[in-house]
Amino acid sequence: MKLITIILSIAISLLLAGCTGQTGAPTSNTKAPGAKLKIGFSMDTLKEERWQKDRDLFVKRAEELGAEVIVQSADGNDETQVNQAQALLLQGVDVLVVIPHNADVAGAIVEAAKKQNVPVVSYDRLIRNSAPDLYISFDNEKVGELQAKYLLERAPKGNYILIGGAPTDNNANIVRAGQMKVLQPAIDRGDIKIVADQWAKDWLAEEALKHTENALTQNANDVAAVVASNDSTAGGVVQALLQKGLAEKVVVSGQDADLAALQRVVAGTQSMTVYKPVSRLATKAAEAAVSLAKGEKPPTDRSVNNGRVDVPFIYLEPIPVDKENVDATVIKDGYQKREDVYKKP
Ligand code: GAL
Repeated sequence: MKLITIILSIAISLLLAGCTGQTGAPTSNTKAPGAKLKIGFSMDTLKEERWQKDRDLFVKRAEELGAEVIVQSADGNDETQVNQAQALLLQGVDVLVVIPHNADVAGAIVEAAKKQNVPVVSYDRLIRNSAPDLYISFDNEKVGELQAKYLLERAPKGNYILIGGAPTDNNANIVRAGQMKVLQPAIDRGDIKIVADQWAKDWLAEEALKHTENALTQNANDVAAVVASNDSTAGGVVQALLQKGLAEKVVVSGQDADLAALQRVVAGTQSMTVYKPVSRLATKAAEAAVSLAKGEKPPTDRSVNNGRVDVPFIYLEPIPVDKENVDATVIKDGYQKREDVYKKP
C-alpha cells in the first residue's frame, strides 16, 4: 500500500511537472520584477559531515545574493531524490542544484527541469546521460592521485587493499582512476601487489570495515597500505586495523577532512586525508546558480563529457593533508577547530 502511494505520487508529480512545463511554468524568463530568485537544492544525503557544511555555506552565499533556497535531502534514495526534485520544480524554482545519489538516475531530474526551462547545476558529482548546464567540483582524479602518491611514498613495496566509494557515484570511479594512474607503474614493476579491490556501497564505513576484515584474513594480515577513497570508508578501514593491532603500521588514505578523520590523522591511525575547501565550492556554486537563474552564463574553466554532452565545468583544487600541515590548511581556514582536532578521545 505504501509503495503504491509512493509510485502514485511520483507519477502525479511527473505529470504535473510535464503539464506546467507545457503551459509555461514560472521560470527565470517569466519572473516578476523584484521577486526573489528561488533555488532548489536537491542533496543526496546529509549523513557525512561535509554535506552539512556544503548546505550551510551554499544557503548563506545564496541568501547574501538575495535568493531563497529550498533544501531537500534524499537520504541516499533514488526514488526520493527524483520525487523531491519534481516537488521543487512544482514550487517554481528558477534553478535546480543537484548532488546526485545515482549519476544515471539523476539524468531524469535534468530532463524534467529542461522541460520547464529550469537550468541545472550538477554539484560536486557529475550527472550523466543528460545535459546539465554546469558542473562544479574538485578535481576528483587529482584526489585519487594525491592519495596513492602519499601512500606509495611511505609504503613503496608490499600488499595493497583498494577500497573504492559508491559505484553509483561518478566521483568514486574518477578517484579510482587517479589512484590507478599512480599505482600502475609500481604494480608493473612488481613493487606492490593489489590483494583486494572492493567498492563500498554508498561510501559506508561498515562496508569498508567488512571488506578490510576479509582482505586481512585472506592475506594473513600481510598488508602495507589501504587506499581508502574517503574518510567515512577510512573510518571502517581503521576500525578493522585496530581490531588486528595493525593501526599505525599500515598506511591509510582518506578524503574530506572530516573531524573524526583528522582526529585519526593526529593520533596516527589514518595517514592522510584530502581536504577540499568546501567553502569555495559552495560559494562559487551559489554564485553560478544565481547567475544561471538570471539567464546569464557563469564563467567556467573547461568542460567534461558526461556520456551525452560536454558539460561546462568549474574546477577546484584539492589539498593533501597529514599531521604536518593540518594546522596550516584545514585549521587555518577555519574548516575545523584546532581544539576539536586535537581533542583526546
Ligand atoms: C563523493 C564526494 C566525497 C565524499 C563522498 C561521500 O561524491 O566527492 O567528498 O563525501 O561523496 O559522500
